[in-house]
Amino acid sequence: MCGIVGYTGPENPKDIIMSGLKSLEYRGYDSAGVAILHQGQFKRVRAEGKLTHLAQKLDKESFDGHVGIGHTRWATHGEPNETNAHPHKVGPISIVHNGIIENYAELKSELQQQGAVFESETDSELVAHLIYQKNQNEGMSLFDSVLSILPELTGAYSILAVSEKRPEEMVAFKNGPPLILGASGGAVVVASDLQAIMPITKDVVYLEDDEVAFIEKGQVQFYSKNGEALDKATVHIDWSPEQVEKQGYAHFMLKEIFEQPRAVANALEPHIDLNSHTVRLKNVGFSVDGFDQLDQINIEEDFKKTDEVFKSVERIFIVACGTSYYAGMVGEYLIEQMAGIPVEVDVASEFRYRHTIIPENSLVIVISQSGETADTLAALRQVKKLNSVKVLSICNVKRSTIDREAHGHLYMNAGVEIGVASTKAFVSTLSLMNLVAMSLAKAKNNLDVVTENKYVEQLLAVPSQMEKVLAYDKFFKSAADTLKNFKGFLYMGRGINFPIALEGALKLKELAYMHAEGYAAGEMKHGPLALIDSQMAIVMLVPQDALYEKTVSNLEEAKARGGVVISIGSGEDEKLKKLSRHYLSLPEAGWTTNPLLEVLPLQLLAYHVANSLEYDVDQPRNLAKSVTVE
Ligand code: AGP
Repeated sequence: MCGIVGYTGPENPKDIIMSGLKSLEYRGYDSAGVAILHQGQFKRVRAEGKLTHLAQKLDKESFDGHVGIGHTRWATHGEPNETNAHPHKVGPISIVHNGIIENYAELKSELQQQGAVFESETDSELVAHLIYQKNQNEGMSLFDSVLSILPELTGAYSILAVSEKRPEEMVAFKNGPPLILGASGGAVVVASDLQAIMPITKDVVYLEDDEVAFIEKGQVQFYSKNGEALDKATVHIDWSPEQVEKQGYAHFMLKEIFEQPRAVANALEPHIDLNSHTVRLKNVGFSVDGFDQLDQINIEEDFKKTDEVFKSVERIFIVACGTSYYAGMVGEYLIEQMAGIPVEVDVASEFRYRHTIIPENSLVIVISQSGETADTLAALRQVKKLNSVKVLSICNVKRSTIDREAHGHLYMNAGVEIGVASTKAFVSTLSLMNLVAMSLAKAKNNLDVVTENKYVEQLLAVPSQMEKVLAYDKFFKSAADTLKNFKGFLYMGRGINFPIALEGALKLKELAYMHAEGYAAGEMKHGPLALIDSQMAIVMLVPQDALYEKTVSNLEEAKARGGVVISIGSGEDEKLKKLSRHYLSLPEAGWTTNPLLEVLPLQLLAYHVANSLEYDVDQPRNLAKSVTVE
């Protein structure tokens, strides 16, 4: 949820840490701070609000040292103000922390009884006090101090610590949120995400849970929590810096909306045979024992193994959060109808606590753009304890924790998504859900080749159909000033379009802070109809599919109550045109691909309304991109 950067090396730490924090600001943006060595002490500069506030303060500061740590915060304990901002400093110790120390209250009160004085309301400051106790009072080195406090900490954390007693050292340790290290030319960078490391090196090492990294003089050594030396593999990352630039768009989100045709094509590409128009999920990895062996995969054996796993599946659980959860709901419609396998979709935070009964021969699909979402990861770990159940992950960030821990792996291939509101990762996931459903259907002998060819052709048509739909950008740009005056928005659809209504409402809530509800259109008369008046905008998803007539009836009911209807349908639909204030025509598509097209106008609507309200579209209030705490 927060972003951490640490640097030691020949360059000016201030510039490297600040540009690293800038690239991690999507993780949290309510306050930020640095502690950089100057005249033998770690000088701390912190500011409430966006990183630009910290940058202004730092303009006046200079540092003569070559070690520093920085942090951009998403508040969990204690409001977002300067005192609660990281780094936290106790005597010579400074630390930055991402995550939650669950037992902080009891440990804090023990320390207070011994005379410790806390300056902030955070759980994080406790860690600085604990290290201080060992380092200052008991004379331990920074490294030994960290090892000795590990058994005391409960919760999810990644932490970077420095001490003025040996200012050339840094110690990084984690249990939960990611920490990645890169070393090159006498410099070492430690960060929560690759973006902050790539300008220094493309060769990185991922710290695992219960591991500790000791950094000194441009070198890194890795240890277990018991202090045993570890030999860890370096991973080379393929990365182009332009992936994290706006390239002329006003916001990352708008750029990412326009990248969706490419995102869909990239998600489909590895798994579709363009000659036969058939599907085979490639390199899923069920055939190998563990993530590290994915490089040595035998493609034919892996195809066979995936097919074997899919043949044996009797029940499917899909677990995710937020937008990824809605993508999972679309998957439910696709899999049940195509493959005839019962599917249950769960929000991860509920799944992990509801004592879900998962029979043998179940497949659990976890979906996460970031691959780090705490609830989804906890659900995955819970499921993995059941030996009879396979877990298939769908992630965008390769080598993320969820990706590494699943038995099978599919990749969204959407490219880096910076906007906090997920867009392109969603459509990539819908593309993959189509392929998973078709593969399961084939394994169950439920899909004849003619229908498979038709579905594949419809999928292949999506990128160019999306290009046409993106023309609605102009419509929403000019309509935004009117739309922002509605008191609320009701998004409705039926069948596979219902999750898209939910996703449309979530986008508007996240970005424009407006009241928006997503509803199954058939449910409207069981309550939400009471909301409708001339101040309520009704966004109806009415593609030409099996439920078309029923959805039109629901639209008429809403219109009869005075709601202002914006309908989204297929082709030239005269009926919808007559019934609606605005009719948006999508290219004619299949029932499996309609959702991929429908979501685009909803994203544009939310983007332009938020923009006309002058809200921060890329970093909406109170949110963060990667939710690594419960
Ligand atoms: C989407 O716009 C949201 N910001 C949020 O709901 C997100 O989809 C959710 O937090 C799950 O994230 P994940 O896909 O990285 O697990």
